[in-house]
Amino acid sequence: MKKHKIALIPGDGVGKEVIAQGVKVLYAASEKHGFELDFIDYPFGSGHYLKTGELVSEDSLAEIGKCDAIYLGALGDPRVKPGILEKGILLQLRFHFDQYVNLRPVKLLPNVYCPLKNKGPADIDFVVFRENTEDFYIGLGGNAKGKTHQNLELVRQMYKVKFGLDIETDAEEIAYQIGLVSRGGTERIIRYAYEYTKKSGKTKLASVDKANVLTSIYGFWRKTFEDMGAEYPGIKTESLFVDAVTMFFVMQPERFQSLVVPNMFGDIITDLGAAIQGGMGTAPSGNINPAGVSMFEPIHGSAPDIAGRGIANPIAAIWAGEMMVRSLGEGAAADSIMKALETVLAKNRIKTPDFGGASSTSDVGDAIADAVLKG
Ligand code: NAD
Ligand code: IPM
Ligand code: MN
Repeated sequence: MKKHKIALIPGDGVGKEVIAQGVKVLYAASEKHGFELDFIDYPFGSGHYLKTGELVSEDSLAEIGKCDAIYLGALGDPRVKPGILEKGILLQLRFHFDQYVNLRPVKLLPNVYCPLKNKGPADIDFVVFRENTEDFYIGLGGNAKGKTHQNLELVRQMYKVKFGLDIETDAEEIAYQIGLVSRGGTERIIRYAYEYTKKSGKTKLASVDKANVLTSIYGFWRKTFEDMGAEYPGIKTESLFVDAVTMFFVMQPERFQSLVVPNMFGDIITDLGAAIQGGMGTAPSGNINPAGVSMFEPIHGSAPDIAGRGIANPIAAIWAGEMMVRSLGEGAAADSIMKALETVLAKNRIKTPDFGGASSTSDVGDAIADAVLKG
């Protein structure tokens, strides 16, 4: 029997609650479709960090590198300074495994409440390809001394001559963060988006940037996107500014089939994407390295405001599990998870409070796992 080895990182807060349901549904699908799943549990997250001071160990990274995929919940805890767990664990995994594609489907499933007036499943169905290794996420930043706000003009002038910041980490008069995109990094994500768009029979790909202000990095991004378009005559392209894209997500979501986006804007617009497809509890993602180990997770965080109450919506995590088994070649199992999800939504009975119901996280997981087994 075929066996897939999965590194399981439930993480923090609702991450643990929703991943448990994802595992339940994945076991049901593996039973139904005749393959084995071997989950290897990793404790990374706030509890482990507060107890041991460790984020992710080198040994674990090497072990995880031998797995077929990673299934992750969420990281983040109000007891820990923002960034420690998020950068130290989640971004560490994305960077270490060079998962340069963050694939985030934005799809309104039937019977899910959409906050947009007069929009339905036919209008909200596109894919966002978020670059996942560069931009403002490279971790290059710090503090500088000697320049006050009033002197920023001076800094701009100096910048023209040389870098111009007198960098000293314990000074706190200026803080800066550098965004960087490389030719290789930009080309590979844009290539992936064009290829995926072509293979999936879509006809349109939009690129998102802010080339009118952040001219250096996004001018470079835009030009790369436009140049590469010549190789794909069958795909209709447009370059849009990110501020306008947020407006189009709300006013005309049907405009989009696929979008390719630099890292930070991709982060921001996909929370809006989640909102128009029914909320944070519904949006899955895959951090993909086409030649390596990929990682699947809901796009939401640890949701401290509802954690521990058993009311988080597990649909995003279950859907991320569906993306994972599909990527492992288990297409029939993936189809049966999607079908089960739609069956439970169609009955409109078992739903968590964010969907206006009173069911628990595990009630929803049970119902979907059951529908997989019966499907
Ligand atoms: P969040 O995504 O955790 O929560 C935003 C809102 O969505 C909250 O009101 C929350 O209750 C709701 N929500 C999230 N998931 C839900 C679910 N499954 N069902 C129902 N409602 C859900 O974002 P935040 O509050 O800005 O961040 C909380 C923590 O999570 C922070 O530490 C942040 O850094 C971290 N974070 C981690 C990830 C990740 O691990 N991928 C993503 C985003 C935020
Ligand atoms: C996401 C999250 C992460 C990101 C954070 C927690 C590092 O917001 O997966 O969308 O910014 O990528
Ligand atoms: Mn995010």
